Amino acid sequence: MIPAENPTPVAIPRALSPSQSARPTPIAVVTHEINARRMTASQVATDGSADTEACLRRPVSSGSTMSAGHSRSRFPLPWIAGVGRASRPCRATFASMVVTGAKLEKGGGSFEGIKLLLCENPLPPLDEAVAAAQRELARSNYYTEPHSEPLRQFIAKQLGVPERLIHINAGSELILRQIFDRLGDRVHLLTPSYALFPEIARRYTETRLLPERDFALDLGELEIPDDTTLVAIVNPNNPNGGTFDMSPLPELLARHPRTQFLVDEAFIGLGGHSVVSLVPRHPNLLVTRTLSKAHSLAGFRVGYAVLPEPLADDLNEHNDAYPLARPSQAAALATLQHEGEIAARAKQLRVWTEALAAQIRALGARTHPSETYFFLADFAPRDAADLAARLRERQILVKPLGDRRLGPGYMRITTALPQDNVRFVAALKEML
Ligand SMILES: Cc1ncc(COP(=O)(O)O)c(C=O)c1O
Repeated sequence: MIPAENPTPVAIPRALSPSQSARPTPIAVVTHEINARRMTASQVATDGSADTEACLRRPVSSGSTMSAGHSRSRFPLPWIAGVGRASRPCRATFASMVVTGAKLEKGGGSFEGIKLLLCENPLPPLDEAVAAAQRELARSNYYTEPHSEPLRQFIAKQLGVPERLIHINAGSELILRQIFDRLGDRVHLLTPSYALFPEIARRYTETRLLPERDFALDLGELEIPDDTTLVAIVNPNNPNGGTFDMSPLPELLARHPRTQFLVDEAFIGLGGHSVVSLVPRHPNLLVTRTLSKAHSLAGFRVGYAVLPEPLADDLNEHNDAYPLARPSQAAALATLQHEGEIAARAKQLRVWTEALAAQIRALGARTHPSETYFFLADFAPRDAADLAARLRERQILVKPLGDRRLGPGYMRITTALPQDNVRFVAALKEML
């Protein structure tokens, strides 16, 4: 098994020459020597990727071929460790791999139409959050308390964990990047997963979640390569919105004491059971969370993590002492005091999501179950990228999944407000 490897994860896609960037397979594979010399992006592109293409086109001896950063699975099993399997000559030649060109869709910030793209909560921040943020604006000549102390204290109390284990930062993506910087040498992912992870892991192996099982997996059956540094579990999972039964986790933690387990609970307010209370008892469990999703504060950028003490200390010591802007900290504190309202909104979002999924099914697409406010739909034999491009012309943004192993029909759909869902379904109906 050759794991996917991202030794110099920055900049490589940007430096591809025009001819290379026109290639359909946005992958570069580099040798260890190239990595060791810490080549520039253009060197990697020149020295590595030409051979890569040939290597990727060769038939594989077993398992899967590489394509757009993913292996095309031929395994009937629910778990497959080994992105980047290649035929033997390739294994010998290329010891490591850089997944490039898998550019995340980050856009849409100033888009005025209907956004079903980024798993954003269509409901605005709570009034209390907006009022609290406004009150802080005029005091923004002052820093916040170091490490966002009041928020840290509040979260610690709310979760029943020691304050020292909490790290707060401007969005959980930043925290995830810091964690992967430290622990992302050999990552194991449950894929399809949050698109950031394959981008920031230096190497990764994967367990495939299968559409025929509605992306469900018994974590008790998870097989993890021995040298794995970090296992990343997203619960509820993005992109499908399903949850995992986390009860096998303590046993997994005990079975792999040298592996760190990250549970990304970005969507926990919408479904699933949190494992945050286990962190103080398990030195290899990390939980990240965000106020971007259930709490409708994505634009305020508030994320936090509950971590084993040495890692929490490390992140807090090597971070801006004032990670949040005053309005963001105030909005977060105000929102967290209204968890009942947030839970009621989550319920409402679920109702809209279910109704939207039913309408999509009525149009002939297949949908997968979700416990969040987004879900996966398969429009096969239609091409989701093509549908998305035509929807964009009508001011509607959706996310074609672009996972070649699932097929081109897959689209992740986030509920909008009901009136916008009506427009979305009407537009789709005209196209299908
Ligand atoms: C699974 C998951 N984790 C983390 C994040 C990052 O959220 P933020 O940086 O807004 O906290 C996202 C954003 O979509 C996500 O889907």
